Amino acid sequence: MKSIFSFFPVLLFLTGCSGGAAEKPAPYQDPSRPIEERVEDALSRMTLEEKVAVLHAQSKFSSAGVPRLGIPEVWCTDGPHGIRPEVLWDEWDQAGWTNDSCTAFPALTCLAATWNPRMSALYGKSIGEEARYREKDVLLGPGVNIYRTPLNGRNFEYMGEDPYLASRMVVPYVQEVQKNGVAACVKHFALNNQETRRMSVDVVVDDRALYEIYLPAFKAAVKEGGAWAVMGAYNKYKGQHCCHNEYLLNRILKGEWAFDGVVISDWGGVHDTEESIENGLDLEFGTWTDGLRAGTRNAYDNYYLAQPYLERLRTGEADVKTLDDKVRRVLRLIFRTAMNTQKPFGSLNSPEHLAAARRIAGEGMVLLKNDGGVLPLDASSTKRLLVVGENAVKMMTVGGGSSSLKVRHECTPLEGLRAAAEAAGCEVVFERGYVGDPTGSYNGVNTGQDLSETRSAEQLIADAVAAAEQADAVIFVGGLNKSDFQDCEGADRKQYGLPYAQDRVIEALAAANPRLTVVLVSGNAVAMPWLDRVPAVLEAWFSGSEAGNALADVVFGQVNPSGKLPFTFPVRLEDNGAHALGEFPGGDSVRYNESIFVGYRWHDTKAIKPLFAFGHGLSYTSFAYSNLRLSSEKLSQGGSLTLGVDITNTGDRAGAEVVQLYIGDDESLCMRPVKELKGFEKVLLEPGETQRVEFEITPEALSYYDDTKGRWVAEAGLFTAYVSAASDDIRLTGHFTLK
Ligand code: BGC
Repeated sequence: MKSIFSFFPVLLFLTGCSGGAAEKPAPYQDPSRPIEERVEDALSRMTLEEKVAVLHAQSKFSSAGVPRLGIPEVWCTDGPHGIRPEVLWDEWDQAGWTNDSCTAFPALTCLAATWNPRMSALYGKSIGEEARYREKDVLLGPGVNIYRTPLNGRNFEYMGEDPYLASRMVVPYVQEVQKNGVAACVKHFALNNQETRRMSVDVVVDDRALYEIYLPAFKAAVKEGGAWAVMGAYNKYKGQHCCHNEYLLNRILKGEWAFDGVVISDWGGVHDTEESIENGLDLEFGTWTDGLRAGTRNAYDNYYLAQPYLERLRTGEADVKTLDDKVRRVLRLIFRTAMNTQKPFGSLNSPEHLAAARRIAGEGMVLLKNDGGVLPLDASSTKRLLVVGENAVKMMTVGGGSSSLKVRHECTPLEGLRAAAEAAGCEVVFERGYVGDPTGSYNGVNTGQDLSETRSAEQLIADAVAAAEQADAVIFVGGLNKSDFQDCEGADRKQYGLPYAQDRVIEALAAANPRLTVVLVSGNAVAMPWLDRVPAVLEAWFSGSEAGNALADVVFGQVNPSGKLPFTFPVRLEDNGAHALGEFPGGDSVRYNESIFVGYRWHDTKAIKPLFAFGHGLSYTSFAYSNLRLSSEKLSQGGSLTLGVDITNTGDRAGAEVVQLYIGDDESLCMRPVKELKGFEKVLLEPGETQRVEFEITPEALSYYDDTKGRWVAEAGLFTAYVSAASDDIRLTGHFTLK
């Protein structure tokens, strides 16, 4: 267990009170020395056994330091939406602490939907402070696996379908977390795009899709964000598990990107000692421990990077050079985190963190449809508001796998809507409408909610309809939840449609009351066969501790929605490239035949109209785009040009617009998507206000990965810049040539 004694030599040095004559600190203990010098010094003092001991777990979430040298342990925590409650030393079960409740921040899909890197920074700062307060050294997040199909159970933990958006959003998150002396561990590297057979499936993907779609967000997190840790994925690539994958870890991550941090295995993702030694794994976690019976001293000795590694070193089958590289990385991590004397104290459940959670949630909610201006609701002129649906009352911070939390506070949609409405004199009535998953505990964390229900499905609908007929407006809150086969780790969704026959409830409500808003709580796209009968639809995501208040902010217009979709909602599953052309979920292997045509790249290229497009999101005000100007019509290799455009708020309330720049290569010799996101900017405008937004375009933004040459290439020729409000809502275009 982490204790003050593990810091003893450092503390002696810092306080200068070692009792008798002041001992001169060893170089590795001296925080004023450069980290690399400290690493080399510590390394030179370690025995072979001590070196191996820092490369694997000593408990579920910690690894040993070097007690003899006073080098502390490394403590990890999930990630990525809040700090996981403490589990037992050797088990996944709860430790039963009473001081480990956290703030739940919105799921990363919601963060991505803000399209606002400033919100990422706020998120990273806040969650980093909570991790720090809990004395964690490594936050197991954020996740940036690309949204390939709406069926992936873990999409809610990631940042959507576009590599550029995910890249821009992940960098501030990582930087701000790490300012707390807590490492961000970016996961799951790489190609972890499904849960079905996640421990064994071999992903077959071409190099263009790998480099253009699946790797950029990881690369940005490492090269721009300076991530101190990366987590290997469970799945295989080129027949090798990603946690010890020569190509991904040695060649790309540590080679091409010069990553100097630690590769941490996913929990139980390690399968082979030799591959782990040779192929870039540094720190092994979560391997099965034979029920703690087979260990000599300790079951963790049986980890692949424990006793078996030591034996290979002793017999000369493994070399010390490779070992030292791993140990240096772990030491570097410890100096950056656990032994970082500059780190702040952190804080847990502060009012600032709740405010951050509410702000990010409100900014991430996406107004998908709003015919006739049903939203915002005016609470003072609405006498009776009916709220229907299990997701209005179900706590969503609990469940879903490793991201499950134990929160100090969670405001459900019904509580938030009720508080805001009743303050304005509007009565709020609730009807259940359907029963989804009434259970209220997950992995030993109990919500304390009893959602059991005795009425039949028919009766629930009848009761909801009767109440809808008496209401001035109706808000249905449904969607998915964090239960198995929904938005949950460990399995994928079985269907694209809404579960629990919610479509029937929505259709019945639409027939009973024309002022119906459907609020979806989900981390994934869903089918909406009722869309033409429902005037307003809001995607509210899993939005954390302040879910209900943030929802009320948007519904009643305190917050003008400005979220945009970070992934496409297809009409049907078959309209998604992975389902149309590729494989999902495959068998022993899964082929990404759709290649680079993921999300809107597929819809654009095949001219398939989506239900809601990537980048789509409405506001309570309107925006006009004008005066597109390019600083030049010619771009030279190594040069840049500026694209400027005026955005005007043409409505009568303040609002923010996400101006999106897509670029298309009009004369390419190879296959390219019609257009790709290459810039975006969120601008807040008062009514009538105009702001000029400028984007710099460089040849890098025009390039594709040439898999024959193994490098990025920008072809000379004609390009089009599309300035858009969504990927299917192009407002202005400009043309230029690359020489
Ligand atoms: C998940 C990781 C998580 C780890 C530790 C694994 O099952 O895939 O995302 O960080 O468990 O809980």
